[in-house]
Amino acid sequence: MGFPPDTSKTVKLERYNSYLRRVNSTKLLAASSKLIFRSTLLAALILVLFLTVNYPPLSSSHSSSGVPYASHRSLLSSSLYSGGGAAVGGASWERQVRQSSTAHRPGGMSVLVTGAAGFVGTHCSLALKKRGDGVLGLDNFNAYYDPSLKRGRQVLLSKSGVFVVEGDINDAALLAKLFDVVPFTHVLHLAAQAGVRYAMRNPQSYIQSNIAGFVTLLEAAAKRADPQPAIVWASSSSVYGLNEANPFSESHRTDRPASLYAATKKAGEEIAHVYNHIYGLSLTGLRFFTVYGPWGRPDMAYFFFTKDILQGKQITVFKPADGEREVARDFTFIDDVVKGCLGALDTAEKSTGMPGGGKKRGPAQLRVYNLGNTSPVPVSRLVAILESLLGVKAKKNIVRMPANGDVPYTHANVSLAHGDFGYQPTTDLATGLRKFVKWYVDYHGIKIPVSSATTASSSSSSSSSTSETQRVAGDAADDTEDSSLSAAT
Ligand SMILES: NC(=O)c1ccc[n+]([C@@H]2O[C@H](COP(=O)([O-])OP(=O)(O)OC[C@H]3O[C@@H](n4cnc5c(N)ncnc54)[C@H](O)[C@@H]3O)[C@@H](O)[C@H]2O)c1
Repeated sequence: MGFPPDTSKTVKLERYNSYLRRVNSTKLLAASSKLIFRSTLLAALILVLFLTVNYPPLSSSHSSSGVPYASHRSLLSSSLYSGGGAAVGGASWERQVRQSSTAHRPGGMSVLVTGAAGFVGTHCSLALKKRGDGVLGLDNFNAYYDPSLKRGRQVLLSKSGVFVVEGDINDAALLAKLFDVVPFTHVLHLAAQAGVRYAMRNPQSYIQSNIAGFVTLLEAAAKRADPQPAIVWASSSSVYGLNEANPFSESHRTDRPASLYAATKKAGEEIAHVYNHIYGLSLTGLRFFTVYGPWGRPDMAYFFFTKDILQGKQITVFKPADGEREVARDFTFIDDVVKGCLGALDTAEKSTGMPGGGKKRGPAQLRVYNLGNTSPVPVSRLVAILESLLGVKAKKNIVRMPANGDVPYTHANVSLAHGDFGYQPTTDLATGLRKFVKWYVDYHGIKIPVSSATTASSSSSSSSSTSETQRVAGDAADDTEDSSLSAAT
């Protein structure tokens, strides 16, 4: 007969194990609570630090262009820091903003320039600052084209005392802050998604900057700013679209745009009418015609033709369809456009609306002007001048103009701007391109034969006669849109 098994030891062992398990789980619980407590504390500290640096809270903004180089910066990298590295909203940031916006001449203006790191924005900001006006820049430094060029312009501006806030025109909180800090008398609104053909690749970027961004700016100017500023803004010759009457005059039809870019600029003109009508904002739209010059835009034909010719690459040049006139543009030199912008600012009347978006006291000024050169130049002539300036023969690939939004011909009638503020373009294409080429080779450290760079306006390539050169050089003229004359190669 066997004995019953002795279970007392097993039971004891089990009790002991269960005791150990309880002790362990209590310890584990205590340790994890500590960990959770510490992580929460750390997260709270990081949040407090973030909010302190980023006051006032800035709304998300960038998404606009998307673009060949890179997508827009994140909220953190774009909204927290502005140009000189000062935190937006901090005391040193406000000091820089005020200093930059303060006029240094009796009766001087205080101008907010949007798109200040852009081609036209930089030149206008420098000219305003030079004559003693206060200028504050605003730009999101997007990567539609190489942002290092925009940074280069920013350095130039900074040397002249113009501070550029890094931010987006869709950022309502940032705009409110700027209008709170500075009683701007004027806004020169140049920030936009430019370029005609890029609209087929990234249409939303045009809606974001040219329509949504414009409305955000107008809202702030109408309802937040005290006093309401007068606004001068960049429309475009592209609004003439399929208009065939020449030269283009402000009274011609603008209801048949040929590109989404043109449609957003036309929409801008209609939106301007609304804000003028309801809120009494003084608004002046300027229809620029193919602006070119030093520090210009790399997406435009004169710029990338220069680059490609110097690199021995083929350039694609458009020829017209049978029976149509040669593809031509009313190239306008940047200095002439700057004079036009300043003339428009100088003659802009005050807005008549009550701050806070209240009822207007009376009708406010609403204007639209062509700013062109009044002398269209065929693309073949543009190439000939560049060949002469660069001392290199271009390798041309001549193709039929595709349906990509470009219009074949632009030509401005500028008599309205001439009558109202004495606008008178004075730079012919050969002279202007010589200045551009000089800047281009200096900027890129390229050496070209001295004779080429300095004798451009009097020389000509085999394809252009002397009389042609003189004719171009003798005119001061017209038109344009900011598209190029050829396909990008
Ligand atoms: N250059 C031309 O031939 C031409 C012709 C017709 C019209 N325009 C108009 O003139 C204005 C200036 O043109 P540009 O040639 O100097 O172009 P640009 O691209 O060099 O300058 C525009 C600047 O605006 C900035 N920007 C774009 N979207 C922004 C946003 N949402 N918030 C803040 N900044 C933003 C860009 O970073 C850029 O620096 C634009 O409105 C353009 O549409 C130009």
